[in-house]
Amino acid sequence: MPVKILTFCGSLRAASSNLALLQAVERLAPAGICVSRYTGITGLPHFTPDQDEDALLPQPARDLRTQVAAADGLLFAVPEYMHGLPGSFKNTLDWMVGCQRFPGKPVALAHVTARHAFAPAQLEEILRTMAARIVPDAGIHLGLSSNRLDADMICADASHAAVIRTALENFQRSVQSKEFE
Ligand SMILES: Cc1cc2nc3c(=O)[nH]c(=O)nc-3n(C[C@H](O)[C@H](O)[C@H](O)COP(=O)(O)O)c2cc1C
Repeated sequence: MPVKILTFCGSLRAASSNLALLQAVERLAPAGICVSRYTGITGLPHFTPDQDEDALLPQPARDLRTQVAAADGLLFAVPEYMHGLPGSFKNTLDWMVGCQRFPGKPVALAHVTARHAFAPAQLEEILRTMAARIVPDAGIHLGLSSNRLDADMICADASHAAVIRTALENFQRSVQSKEFE
């Protein structure tokens, strides 16, 4: 059975560097790892606890939880906005909290740039609060200074490609190990 990794891009920008990174991840995934991207962020309503019960749950939130439940691991690539997380992405996390299969879910963070000083730590804190299991060596850190790049440029760079493949193999190993049972 292939390991299923569901990715989340926290940027809605058409030329997003985080999106480029996740597209590169999709292309570079070794055999045995199936990478798919959650694309429903803009279709989610604003989170309210009033709708966070089974009979009232909006369909987009139901779809999100179904995809999260079916994934073996989640990979997040999220920019920093005003020293925090983009609002639309935080809204996605708020809807994810009620997914009964979320606690214990292996998760990893992907970063294009090393510049962001606040958001990565905030995201880790939120994920820990949600009882995710962060897999540190499945994290992808390209450490670039520019956000003007696309998936072709990332894939063409042997060192970036190696970082991505190694992280995905580490993710696969962690998901398949007894560590998460
Ligand atoms: C509204 C806004 C606020 C931002 N705030 C920060 C910030 O606080 N810290 C930072 O390092 N970068 C900040 N940035 C820069 C973005 O994080 C950076 O451009 C990132 O590459 C955007 O991701 P993307 O390329 O996937 O769209 C901000 C950008 C925007 C548009």
